Amino acid sequence: MACGAPDEPLLDRVVAHSLEVTHSSVGLIGLLARARDHLDLVAACRVSASMGGACAWALPRVIPVRGNLIGAVVERGRSKTSDDAGADPDGTEPGIRPPLRTFLGVPLRLEGVLIGVLAVANKRCRYTAADEHLLTAFADHAAVAVDNTRLRRRQRDADDSRRRLHRQLLVVTETERRCIAADIHDDVMQKLTAVELRLQRLRARLPKGPERLLLEDVSAMVAQTDDALRLLLFDLRPPALDLPGGLSSAIRTRLQMLERDTGIRGELREAPGEDVPPRTARTVFRLLREGLINAATHSGARHVLVVLDRRDGGLLARIDDDGCGFSVAAAEASPGHLGLTLARERTDLAGGWFRLESEIGAGTTVEFWLPVDAG
Ligand SMILES: Nc1ncnc2c1ncn2[C@@H]1O[C@H](COP(=O)(O)OP(=O)(O)OP(=O)(O)O)[C@@H](O)[C@H]1O
Ligand SMILES: [Mg+2]
Repeated sequence: MACGAPDEPLLDRVVAHSLEVTHSSVGLIGLLARARDHLDLVAACRVSASMGGACAWALPRVIPVRGNLIGAVVERGRSKTSDDAGADPDGTEPGIRPPLRTFLGVPLRLEGVLIGVLAVANKRCRYTAADEHLLTAFADHAAVAVDNTRLRRRQRDADDSRRRLHRQLLVVTETERRCIAADIHDDVMQKLTAVELRLQRLRARLPKGPERLLLEDVSAMVAQTDDALRLLLFDLRPPALDLPGGLSSAIRTRLQMLERDTGIRGELREAPGEDVPPRTARTVFRLLREGLINAATHSGARHVLVVLDRRDGGLLARIDDDGCGFSVAAAEASPGHLGLTLARERTDLAGGWFRLESEIGAGTTVEFWLPVDAG
């Protein structure tokens, strides 16, 4: 047995079994196009020995619904048998070589709607009512297989467009982040630097006393604001991320900032591997950042460990902290706390997965995986 047009292996198998049970030489499944004016060939099989080699089975990819036997099944909405296909009043099959002699075609129906035709041909003797009965049973199986294939295809298309949208969204947010970073840097930071310089000049002129103490207080607040803005600038646009090896370097810098601001010691462990593309690196960095901010804000940890590893064609990232831990179920149910929910959604949209493990008193592990081309 040899099969052609392998659009759907399961449908090819249905045709192959149809040939066996009806003792036919050739068979095919055509699905009705949306315009219902032609059928698209989606599966075809022949018995090689009786057809004398692979080249003997020539089939059109498109079968019109008028002027031929397969089309007649569609037009009438019921099965069609012919003992002499070459001279049948319904016409002959265009483009099928060698020509059909005997023919049996049955409709493929899904929830009562005709969606295509399962046809077999060239049995040595005429087709019987028993053949028609068997072929109709196979057609029911084929219709379910077609439905499943369409559902799978629809799901795949939906996933593809979700990913496309996510990528576009990332490009837009990335551009926006760059603009905000540039504005903060060129405007607010410059003004803050000017304020710091003036405060220094003023301090040099003021004698020791309550005014000078107040001024020093203000200077310290300005310096804190400067630090906070620099951290914000870094998070908005870690400069290293666009460079080769930039992800590790950006994470290391972020861990140093974490230690400076909170005293939490951070460590990065990474398995050697190729560099990840900037788009993936940006997503990984943002997800890690959320985990690190959570560790800094909620955990009371003394140490965090970030692990990066190549796994299953993607990048696996993990943050372990030795902090207080929490009830994941309770946190997920608490309104207004979005960080973890957004992180889960972001990995999901990028085609990856996200996992959270925490136990009160035993620290927290955040782990996620992203495909390497992911946005
Ligand atoms: N590493 C951690 N250690 C201890 N508790 C944590 C940790 N990470 C998260 N939590 C708990 O889970 C809750 C939800 O975290 P989530 O990041 O979703 O929101 P949030 O940090 O409170 O607010 P935001 O929306 O600004 O991120 C936190 O409020 C905290 O109680
Ligand atoms: Mg958070």
